[in-house]
Parts: sequence; structure tokens; C-alpha cells
Amino acid sequence: MTLKEMIYHRKSCRSFTGKPVDAEMIEKILSFEPKPLYPEIKVRMDIVPRSQVKCICPWTTPQVIAIYSEETEGYLENIGFLFQQMDLYLQTLGLGVCWLGMGRMNPKTAPGVADMKFVIMLAFGHPKGSQLRHDLKGFKRKSMEQITDMSDPGLEPARLAPSAVNSQPWFFTHEGNTIHLYCAKKGSRLDIGIALAHLYVANEASFRFLRVETPQKLPDHVYIGSVTL
Ligand SMILES: Cc1cc2nc3c(=O)[nH]c(=O)nc-3n(C[C@H](O)[C@H](O)[C@H](O)COP(=O)(O)O)c2cc1C
Repeated sequence: MTLKEMIYHRKSCRSFTGKPVDAEMIEKILSFEPKPLYPEIKVRMDIVPRSQVKCICPWTTPQVIAIYSEETEGYLENIGFLFQQMDLYLQTLGLGVCWLGMGRMNPKTAPGVADMKFVIMLAFGHPKGSQLRHDLKGFKRKSMEQITDMSDPGLEPARLAPSAVNSQPWFFTHEGNTIHLYCAKKGSRLDIGIALAHLYVANEASFRFLRVETPQKLPDHVYIGSVTL
């Protein structure tokens, strides 16, 4: 399956065999190069053993991807954008994956990264049994009407994007060919980056991201940026 096809089948995995992912697969993961939203922001990922992680979740994977970033304007959208491409990629390799907002690095066992902020991690590993969704009925998501000022099939990949506690904090407005993207005031910008990643993967050749100087205000929302698809 391609990354684009995976948008319509992916699912967070919380059930794993416990078998570590082998060196050949790790090599593939390390050589995957997702596109950044803000190329100037420094980002780092480390594949670390679970012993370096603190998490109260009831399930576990032997390895996780620990994600670090420079903490500058746009860094959360950038991380969501980059690592949602990774979420899709890992699943095309037949692995299970789950964003892990609950996870922290264990200060006693993790070496720490100078000058960068730990942002979030992705748990990944061999899934127990079949992992993917067969069809769209398996997605619990807001309706198109709830996330945009105008029904637009081009926004379907964003509608299906995962988000922390399935909050789906995104809202889209249209102005000609340009689509403006807003985040609910209490929402996470990381989730917005994730939705943007789905729009990019679904429109790889034509996707453009920009920020307009004086965006229209939307009550209880923050303007994040605009796209043409
Ligand atoms: C930023 C982020 C953080 C998340 N943190 C957790 C977590 O700590 N534990 C967990 O079980 N799921 C976590 N999830 C998974 C979401 O609950 C899940 O994506 C959402 O419910 C939609 O389901 P789906 O990914 O299967 O489509 C997280 C997802 C995102 C995007």
C-alpha cells in the first residue's frame, strides 16, 4: 500500500507481539525522509528501548521513536507534519504504531539531548493480528460539515487524521483556491500538523503551505496557515 492509500486504512495500534523490530527494518525507518513543514526548524528522532521511557499505558512496545525539536514558532505543527508521515510509513511496512502523548523520557535511564526539547514519542512494533481498517466505517470522526465552512472532498484526508484523544481540533475555511486552517483554542498544534500531513500525502505534487499576513479571525480558534492542494 502507498502512504496515500494508508490514510484510508491506518489505525492506532495498542496490541503488540513484544518481538523487537530487527536491524534491517530499523535501517529502513531511519532512512525514511519525511518532508518538513518548516525546514529551518531543527528536529531529531532516536529509536530507543522502552527502558528509557516512562508511561502508565497498559501496553508496551520494545522500542519507541523519541522525538525532539528546537522550540521555535511552528515547531509543534512541524513535528505533527513530519511524524504523521512516519506513522503512515511504519504501517506500510506492516508495523503497528501509536502516538504516545502519555509517554515521557525517563531521566534516570535516557541520556537526554542538549539544546532540544523532548516533544512526543511514537510507540511502534509488530502488531498482534491484523491491524488496519477495512473501510471508512471504522473511523470515528467529525462529519465534513463540522470541520469546514464548505463541503470539500479534498479535505477528506484531513478529516480522517488521528489526533490526541480524537479531539480533531481543526477547522477549514475557503477563499478561492486557498484553504485556511484554524486550531480550536484548546486544541493541540501537533494535531494540526498531523491533519496537514494527510493533505500533503494525498496531494504530494501540488501541496503548498503558506501563512497569510492578515488572516480572517475565527471565534475561539487560532489561525495556523493556509494551503492550496
Ligand atoms: C498527538 C497524539 C497523542 C496521542 N497520545 C496517545 C496516548 O498517549 N495513548 C494512546 O493510547 N493513544 C494516543 N493517541 C492516539 C489517539 O487516541 C488516536 O489517534 C485517536 O483516538 C484516533 O484513533 P486512530 O488513530 O485509531 O484513528 C494519540 C494521538 C495523537 C495524535
